[in-house]
Amino acid sequence: MKYSLLLLFTLFSLVVLSQSTPPIVIQTKNTSLVFTIGKNHRVYQSYLGARLANTAYDHISGGQEAYMTAGMENLFEPAIRLVHADGNPSLELTYATHTTNQKDNVTTTRIVLKDSVYPVEVTLQYTAYFNEDVITASATIQHHEKKPVRLTHYASTLLHFSADNYWLTQFHGEWAREAQMVEEKLTNGIKNIESKLGTRADYYQTPAFFLSLNNPATETSGELIAGTLAWTGNFQFTFEVDQRNQLRVRPGINPYASDYTLKPGELFTTPDFIFTYSSQGKGEASRNLHRWARNYAVLDGNGPRLTLLNNWEATYFNFNEDKLTDLFDGAKQLGVDMFLLDDGWFGNAFPRDNDKAGLGDWQENKTKLPHGIGHLVSEADRKGIKFGIWLEPEMVNPKSELYQKHPDWILRLPNRAENLSRNQLVLDLTNPVVQNFVFGIVDSLLTKNPGIAYIKWDCNRPMSNTYSPYLKENQSHLFIEYTRSFYKVLDRIRAKYPHLPIMLCSGGGGRTDFGALKYFTEFWPSDNTDGLERVFIQWGYSYFFPANTIAAHITSMGKGQSLKFRTDVAMSAKLGYDIRVNEMTLQELQFSQEAVKNYKQLSDVIWFGDLFRLISPYEENRSVLMYVNDKKSKAVLFNYNLTTRRKDLFTRVPLQGLDPKKNYRFHETNLFPGTKANNPDNDKVFTGEYLMTIGLNLAPGRALALTSNIFEITEE
Ligand code: DGJ
Repeated sequence: MKYSLLLLFTLFSLVVLSQSTPPIVIQTKNTSLVFTIGKNHRVYQSYLGARLANTAYDHISGGQEAYMTAGMENLFEPAIRLVHADGNPSLELTYATHTTNQKDNVTTTRIVLKDSVYPVEVTLQYTAYFNEDVITASATIQHHEKKPVRLTHYASTLLHFSADNYWLTQFHGEWAREAQMVEEKLTNGIKNIESKLGTRADYYQTPAFFLSLNNPATETSGELIAGTLAWTGNFQFTFEVDQRNQLRVRPGINPYASDYTLKPGELFTTPDFIFTYSSQGKGEASRNLHRWARNYAVLDGNGPRLTLLNNWEATYFNFNEDKLTDLFDGAKQLGVDMFLLDDGWFGNAFPRDNDKAGLGDWQENKTKLPHGIGHLVSEADRKGIKFGIWLEPEMVNPKSELYQKHPDWILRLPNRAENLSRNQLVLDLTNPVVQNFVFGIVDSLLTKNPGIAYIKWDCNRPMSNTYSPYLKENQSHLFIEYTRSFYKVLDRIRAKYPHLPIMLCSGGGGRTDFGALKYFTEFWPSDNTDGLERVFIQWGYSYFFPANTIAAHITSMGKGQSLKFRTDVAMSAKLGYDIRVNEMTLQELQFSQEAVKNYKQLSDVIWFGDLFRLISPYEENRSVLMYVNDKKSKAVLFNYNLTTRRKDLFTRVPLQGLDPKKNYRFHETNLFPGTKANNPDNDKVFTGEYLMTIGLNLAPGRALALTSNIFEITEE
């Protein structure tokens, strides 16, 4: 009966479709993505590229199938592979209907596809952010078969390209050398950029890429898409260049070890794939993503951020109440907004005096903090600074009371030796009781200490030897359920504490995605705070993430680098300190106090302005970047001379993003006490046109290695 109704519906659709459904157009200010419906009723991606005039759409047809299935005639990587309840592995998706809803700047299009033989439905959802030129794409899969079906592939979308050549830029790394950029030409076959690490998923790969068409794109020229996935877990971007040189890009959750058993009526919704198309190079793509991120993706993306002093590198685990309250004075002296207490404050039966014990026991250590966190919060308040605290709530050390009390709350194989990483294991967050526990850690801390102004949420190991006692025979759901459970906990935290700033920290670089940033105000890009290394690491992240999300702390790392250089590097992102203030010389302290003041005065431009990367550290032994505010009335330029050699003759640098007709004063700021600006153009006034065409010499004389300048460029 059900099937004959389906047949009737299909016949009806055929009649409607024979009157030819007009193309389905998804567009932003500068981009069009067009789908058409073929004679066979399948949906095709007929165009993706620079925005077309409305009249052009009538002539578009053909192309590649929008969401290719498996088990039928398709011989390439499918977007979806579904094994029906009867074991049949085929799927054919044809057009059923579509809707478009516009709300101001945001238009959502849903295309519903159905199989004519099995009651399976897939909805492709595209959300277009008009002004930001960003499109997000996801898919929702459901069915009404009698028994569950098995999903083995479930991409967020599938994008097709046809060009002579394809150039892929990826951002790979590991601990302390994150987001290193590599570009290569794609050859025929398959290239995957992916993670199988579960927690700390982005340890080796940032979930983001550029794909340039025909030629490698530069900052200011070339056609490309920039893509990233809103998923805090295993991801996969598959690039398949076929025998005819057509490219399919398949982004989504990594289906590795993750067959999903979908019950009748249950919805399986993929994470959003976020992309922007640019015909003017990588710089424009970044600016699009930054604007979108601030407006729609990052918690309080357009809000201010707190400057801070963290005690991790100053004390590691070795502190007590007095030492901490002394450090408050350091924060106060620097003029930062907050003191952040890091790891080591908890655990009694198993004190957290090193990374071997105590994780999971979230009670103040009575020896180190006899008067508890409450005392620290009020001391900080008395001294006129805010107080923030470190947590790593998803983890447990075997040496802990938590481990002893709740062995069944831990992800580990029942019949094999534990596989520790940083001496710890991951809690089974798929278990709702564990979700309550994790929520409770945050909630009770904030309930007892409403003065806590900030949290640093750490996550220091990936998943290995993973098995969930809670999921039992459904182990292939573990990776997916873990991430969903992480979001469930964060949803509860955000429902109660909507605006509390929280840093997404995962040992540096382990969690860097827009799925999580919906709940977090910033992330910790790397434990490597050496200024020279940070120039590269922050450069990598700057392609996808706005400056107010990239936490950059000044520490004592960076041999041979002046405090001035390290400070100038941190000031180009979200400034913080992790340093022994009492060991600073008087001049260093004076410089840092001024730097914090300068930063506060410039941070609106850095956080909310447009970023222009002028000289890449990958191309020259220097790096130059600038931020320009919306009105083009103020810009901040950062100039870093790296490992310079005699052969490095630095040419003039044409600036970008200014108004050619305006006059601007060029002024060096953030000078070290006792030094003077040595640029002959300092404090001169230039037209925007001059600055952008002729440019400025930023290294008069021979540039010295590991020196830097910050210039304010202000409309007169
Ligand atoms: C890793 C983080 O990246 C560090 O900043 C610090 O918080 C340590 N964890 C503490 O264990």
